[in-house]
Parts: sequence; C-alpha cells; structure tokens
Amino acid sequence: MTFTETFEIKHPITQAPMAGVTTPKFVAAAAKAGVLGSIGAGYLSAEATRDFIREVKKLTDKPFAVNLFIPEHVDMDQEQLRQAYLALEPICKKLGIPYGEAPLSEPSFDEQVDVLIDERVAVCSFTFGLPEKTVVRKLKEHDIYLIGTATTVEEAVLAEQIGMDAVVAQGAEAGGHRGSFIGEQLVPLEELLPSIVKAVSIPVIAAGGIANKEHLELQLSRGAAAVQIGTALLAADESGAHPLYKEAVLAAVDNRTVLTKAFSGKQARGIRNEFIELTASVPIAPYPYQNDLTKKIRSEAAKLGKPEFMSLWAGESVHETTEGTVEEIIGKFI
Ligand SMILES: Cc1cc2nc3c(=O)[nH]c(=O)nc-3n(C[C@H](O)[C@H](O)[C@H](O)COP(=O)(O)O)c2cc1C
Repeated sequence: MTFTETFEIKHPITQAPMAGVTTPKFVAAAAKAGVLGSIGAGYLSAEATRDFIREVKKLTDKPFAVNLFIPEHVDMDQEQLRQAYLALEPICKKLGIPYGEAPLSEPSFDEQVDVLIDERVAVCSFTFGLPEKTVVRKLKEHDIYLIGTATTVEEAVLAEQIGMDAVVAQGAEAGGHRGSFIGEQLVPLEELLPSIVKAVSIPVIAAGGIANKEHLELQLSRGAAAVQIGTALLAADESGAHPLYKEAVLAAVDNRTVLTKAFSGKQARGIRNEFIELTASVPIAPYPYQNDLTKKIRSEAAKLGKPEFMSLWAGESVHETTEGTVEEIIGKFI
C-alpha cells in the first residue's frame, strides 16, 4: 500500500508535528487539505494531550498523528546547572523580568502513550529517540501506526529494527529541534534520504527545507514515500505561532537560520536573534534542563513583544514561507 492509501489522504504529505505551534484547527485543516495532520504533543501533559486530541476529533473525522518526545535521562551536574542559570541573569535584566529558579518539568510520556491508546489515535510519531520495545508492542497491539525520526542512516536502521512502520529522514536543513539520538551529525537531505531509502525497507518521509512543489517532486523522485512540511506552514492562519514569530518568519531572508542549543540544551534550527548571539559562548545545561531554565524568558519575551528573545524555530527555506490558510499553502505543493 502506498503512503496515501494507508492514511486515506490525497497527497503524499505530512504536516510536521510542531510542539507549541500546532493547534486543533491547524491539524484539522491539514487533514481537510488531504494530508496527514500531526499534533505536536511533546510538551503537553497527558490530560492536555487528551483534550487536544478530542478537539481535533470534533473538527475532523480523518486519521491524524500525535507526536511524542522520547524522555531523556541526564545525570545533571549541579555546578553546570548553576553556571547555566547564572548565565541567563543579564538577559533577564535586559528584559526587565525577575530572575528566579525555574521549576523543572516532569516527562509525561508513559501517560501520553496510554491516552493515545484510549483515544484510538491512528498514528504515533516520535522524536529525540525511539520508544522501548514494550511501548512499541503495546501501541501495535492497538493497531497504531508508528513513525520514528532519524537524522542518520544508523538511527533509521534502529527505527526499523525496533518496529517503526515508517521513518522520517530529517535533513540538516530542517527547522526546530533535531531528532538526533546518536551523536549530532548534520547530514543534508540530499545525501540522507537516498542513503536511508537504500538501508531500510519501511517507507521514508523526507523532511527539511521542503518549501515548494519542485522540492516535493525531487524528494519523491529520490525514493521518499512522502514529505514532511514544517516551516512552510508556520505563518498559516491556523498556526498557533505568536504573531511576532510569524512576522519574523515572513520577513526572513535567505541564510537567516542557525543551529543553537541556547534555548533548550538540544540542537535546533531557528532564525538568528539577540538571544542566540548573547548566549553564543555562555555555559548551557543539557536538554531538558536548559529548556526549563529559559522557559520564563521565552514566555515573558512573547508577552512583552520582544522576538529578539523568543525561540523562532525555522528551517533553511524560511525565506519561502508565505501567508494563507493551511489549505492554500498545501495547494502550492500540488
Ligand atoms: C516550529 C517547529 C517545531 C517543531 N516541533 C517538532 C516536534 O514537536 N516534533 C517533531 O518531531 N518535530 C518537530 N519539528 C521538526 C519537524 O518535524 C520537521 O522535521 C521540520 O519542520 C522539517 O523541516 P522544515 O521546517 O524545513 O519543513 C519542528 C519544526 C519546527 C519548525
């Protein structure tokens, strides 16, 4: 069966799960446009995940995916954490916001898995690693289609071995966090996709910098079963991105994105701004600690209308992003 037949979709496209950006309207609009919609549930609690799924179900009866973050267990060095915390003080001062301890977040992965089963979600995708075999078995017993994320051939092979039904080949161009879980190699999609297609027998979804019809056709000709589109949809009417984030995306010119660990402790691609520059050589805690440490700065910056201190995740093709409804933007790929 082809990718489109599996999900009863019209086009070989998945709307990228984008934690903090996807809204129920956005996911439902993607489904309505004939592509696979995906909820970015990585930062949500189990209850918020359930509410989100139910909201999407109210808006569409089409299948959709829910994306989860594989939790990471890091033995945190307290001194490193303190140094990373102290390094953010000047930024808080600059923003005029109180500088205080950040509560550390708790992963809700296992409870989210139970919610997905309860809610009979059709597809579950993962980033930042692969689920354990027991989780894979549990989801499969409930006929949930599983999609892993790989940034290297090695990761894609492991995804297939553990039982993923498909794998996203996330090229170096991609916006947002890198899904890498073995090392931090940056392989351009042009090289990554054909090598993953050769190495695995499950469908491969190409992601990273796909911004128009020509890009889509090129990836399909290189063996992709479908493409995943993130940045191109960021400024859509239904996107939950902050208005200033959308503005920055629409104003971005070529070569404006960089990879940084400053916001979360994990490599991610976004539009270069003052926060990234100020933190270029300061101590940074590993993910997820740095993410917790900068949470207040990011939310206050959004409230104060200061995009220079917000995480403006975007891929290398950000300069091609346009306004419109999800349906209109998807229409440009067809
Ligand atoms: C704002 C933003 C948030 C993202 N959040 C997630 C996420 O929660 N889970 C995930 O698997 N990928 C996430 N990604 C990565 C996308 O799945 C995908 O790899 C990427 O958007 C493809 O590259 P493109 O942005 O150039 O289209 C995110 C990307 C962006 C731009």
